[in-house]
Amino acid sequence: MSGESGSSEQIGKLLGQNLGQKLYEGKAKILYATDNPDVLLTYFKDDATAFNGQKKDSIRGKGEINNAISAHLFKLMESKDIPTHFVEMPSSTQMLVKAVTIVPLEVVVRNIAAGSLCKQTGLELGTAIEPSLVEFYYKDDALGDPLLTIDRIRLMNIASDDDVNTLRTMALQINDVLKEFFNQCGITLVDFKLEFGRDRSGTILLADEISPDTCRLWIQGEPDPKKRVLDKDRFRQDMGNVEEGYQQVLERVLKNSPL
Ligand code: TMP
Ligand code: ASP
Repeated sequence: MSGESGSSEQIGKLLGQNLGQKLYEGKAKILYATDNPDVLLTYFKDDATAFNGQKKDSIRGKGEINNAISAHLFKLMESKDIPTHFVEMPSSTQMLVKAVTIVPLEVVVRNIAAGSLCKQTGLELGTAIEPSLVEFYYKDDALGDPLLTIDRIRLMNIASDDDVNTLRTMALQINDVLKEFFNQCGITLVDFKLEFGRDRSGTILLADEISPDTCRLWIQGEPDPKKRVLDKDRFRQDMGNVEEGYQQVLERVLKNSPL
């Protein structure tokens, strides 16, 4: 099921339930209110976009797969005392989450050079990055999510220095947990993007999703640079078999789950 225009009533009808007010529709998810003001409902769409929405399509089953992978990885983070917005997964395409105010920073962690890092620096695809690189991008589609510097974050008053340090520390902790887990799955975690939010008490929680939409994931031991890709690069670069890549990530995550 996909539907950028999906109203609460249409999607609620399909799911056989009354959804609360639609609060926000992003490129891959829709956020609804619930009866509890501290809890929101996320609906994972099959819609896929790339290059700031210029390329669009629907990937069958993506919503369910990303919801399942994200739920699993959020639970994994919680088991390691990393706080997340995850509450529960009431259906295959829905996740209940704690209401947070999103910090408008996209936090990217890189273990291996790929994507925009290669484009902007000339580093060769696949170059190991040690120690891991943490980057901050401004979450603003109209500006094309530009790469920020610490001084720009300060200038624009997006987050305090303390908050930036907290985000960096949390992102590196998350990287350690994810790298180890994906390694057990026979997958190399190349890079990924995180978003964080503040709850009512001001605590910073990991939010959004962790999925093949937001990570680069390569099969270990696969020498063919096209065959090794299991993530959204299959869609971005028209490599085909996008669903199969996502499905393979889910299968490996479930099989290797310590939970
Ligand atoms: P990049 O190399 O294009 O900067 O992407 C770095 C990582 O962030 C990669 O794992 C894909 C992810 N990402 C998103 O989740 N959303 C985005 O809008 C972009 C540009 C990247
Ligand atoms: N999610 C982003 C978009 O549509 C970009 C990407 O993931 O490549 O536009």
